Amino acid sequence: MEWGMENRLARIINPKTKRCVMLAVDHGYFQGPTSGLQDLGKAVNPLLPYADALMITRGALRNWIPPITDKPIVLRVSGGQSILKELSNEVITTSIQDAVRINASAITCSVYVGGEYEKETIANLARIVNEGADYGIPVLAVTAVGKAMVRDARYLGLASRICVEIGAHIVKTYFCEPDFDKVVTACGNAPVIIAGGKKIEEKAALEMAKKSIEAGAVGVDMGRNVFQSDNPVGMIRAVRAIVHENASVNEAFKIYKKNESSVLLQK
Ligand code: R5P
Repeated sequence: MEWGMENRLARIINPKTKRCVMLAVDHGYFQGPTSGLQDLGKAVNPLLPYADALMITRGALRNWIPPITDKPIVLRVSGGQSILKELSNEVITTSIQDAVRINASAITCSVYVGGEYEKETIANLARIVNEGADYGIPVLAVTAVGKAMVRDARYLGLASRICVEIGAHIVKTYFCEPDFDKVVTACGNAPVIIAGGKKIEEKAALEMAKKSIEAGAVGVDMGRNVFQSDNPVGMIRAVRAIVHENASVNEAFKIYKKNESSVLLQK
C-alpha cells in the first residue's frame, strides 16, 4: 500500500490495538438538527479526547470543530437527499480537493444495496475510491440500510462485500444476529466497524459493541448511542474500554455508571 494511504489508515485504526473508536456525527447531512447534535460543538468537543477519529461533514467541521484538533477526520462526501425523500438518492457533494484542504484522513459515502438508486450509490463509491487513490486518501464505505431492508447476515454480507470489491478500505455496517462473523469474513482483509443505530439502552449498546468485536469487527463508528446518552462521556469511555482494552460488558457498564455518578455529583 502507498505510504500516505497507510499512514492515514494508521491514524484511524490504532496500529497497536488494531482497533478503532470512531465517533459518527454526520447525521445532519440528511436529518438536519438531529436530537443531541443541535449544538454540535457543545455535544462533540467534550467527547473528542476519547475518540480515535471523527466522522463528519465539511460544513459541520468548519462550523463547530476548531481546526487545532488533532483528531483524524473521516469526511462524509455524499449527500443530496433528506429524510423527507428517497434516501438512496445521493450524489457526491465534496470534491477531493476540498477533502485534501481539510486534511481528511479518509473520505466516506453511503452505498444503498437494494435501494432505488443502488447503481448510483455504488458508482459514488467507485468514484471516491478512484479520486482518493490519486491523493493517498482511504475510503470508508457505509452500508446504508433502506427502510425495507432486512438487517440480516445475508443482506449485510452482500452489501459489505460489494463495497470491498469496489475498493473500500474500511466497511461500516450494522451488527446482526446470528452470523455477524460471516459479514466480517465476507470483507476479507478490509476492517469492519459497526454503526450503533438508533438509541437503545446503554448496556444493550455495550453488549452490541462487545459481540461485534468478538465476531471480528475492529471497532465501532457510533453516534446516537453516545451523544444521545444521558452521559455521553461515560458512554464513549465505556465503549473505548470494550474496543481497546477488551473489557467485559459489566466492566464497561461500570465505567459508564461511575462517570454518570460523578456527572450527577457535579450538578
Ligand atoms: C449513516 O448514514 C451515517 O453515517 C450515520 O451518521 C451513522 O451511521 C450513524 O451512526 P449511528 O447509527 O451510531 O448513530
